Amino acid sequence: MTRAVFLGTGMAVPDRVVTNDDLASLMDTSDEWIRTRTGISERRWVREGETGVSLALRASRAALEMAALAPADIDAIVYATSTPDHFAPGGGVYLQDQLGTGPVPALDVRAQCSGFIYALSVADAWIRAGSYRRILVVGSEVQSTGMDLSTEGRHTAVIFADGAGAAVLGPTDDDSRGIIGFDIHSEGAQAEHLWVDAPGSMYHPRISAKHIEEGRHFLQMDGKEVFRHAVVRMPESVRAVLAARGLTPADIGLLIPHQANLRISEMVQKSLGLSQDQVYNNIMRYGNTTSATIPIALDECVRSGRVKQGDLLVFTAFGSGFTWGSALVRW
Ligand code: UT7
Repeated sequence: MTRAVFLGTGMAVPDRVVTNDDLASLMDTSDEWIRTRTGISERRWVREGETGVSLALRASRAALEMAALAPADIDAIVYATSTPDHFAPGGGVYLQDQLGTGPVPALDVRAQCSGFIYALSVADAWIRAGSYRRILVVGSEVQSTGMDLSTEGRHTAVIFADGAGAAVLGPTDDDSRGIIGFDIHSEGAQAEHLWVDAPGSMYHPRISAKHIEEGRHFLQMDGKEVFRHAVVRMPESVRAVLAARGLTPADIGLLIPHQANLRISEMVQKSLGLSQDQVYNNIMRYGNTTSATIPIALDECVRSGRVKQGDLLVFTAFGSGFTWGSALVRW
């Protein structure tokens, strides 16, 4: 039976480092508050001219290089983002053009923080079905241009950040490795706990001066509600993806949780009874880059040797939608 395997990974973050002290000069916050509540020390923000697609392009080139493949070898692109460069079209088509693949399909996935896991599940299904052989899966976000940097927006502005991660997947007949399965969900009744209201096609016009005056174009979050659901849904989903294959958390080689907040990752680790060695976190350096956190962390783990062939990996995420889910992979 065909399975999808990872052939290469890559990441890209802006070179502009924004420290907690930098934020304290924009709003009423402090390095101490941010570290204590989120674990974040610094994050990256784009400079004008750098975009979600340009970050995705750098990450994709790095993933292709690791895979020893050329852009022309890519048969399809699945591009996860909640912050496209434009309202329409999505980022995938711009990446297709700038990377210089053939005129291959480019599908945007809008599942926010769970975007990379949803995107992987699409690529996995396409590979298993024999529809496409080599698929580029990307998570890329620019959150910094959509945040309220005044004190009113401080509970979101200190968390979210910019970055991109990419992976090239391909088929194998070796059923001892590759993507094993998924557990994915959504609960739209909770959508407005973490959302960007405008621009929206339900408004006439889609965006107005009044929307902007009211801050409805900013990312809005009820942090406590999101936190409360995240620490339940992620462990529940990890257990489910394992249990469906007769496995338990003790079998995990490495868990890469979506980097939402270090306190959330710590609670997920505790709830699953995992050791420090079984969980990878890098939110201290990059903040929460939404759909990009998992592929960025994966690339760091692959390049540093933290992930080795044969390891059982679990990716898990939770975020706006609400959407959540997990992926199980034998590396
Ligand atoms: O990617 C997935 C989606 N996102 C998440 O998973 C995030 C989940 N939520 C969280 O991580 C946390 O809710 C936050 C870190 C965002 C906020 O922490 P919290 O403990 O829930 O704080 P809060 O918003 O309830 O605010 C507590 C206090 C408030 O002050 P008062 O009213 O008690 O005087 C806030 O005004 O902390 C204040 N506060 C801040 N103070 C300094 C909120 N943000 C800040 C800040 N700096 N940046």
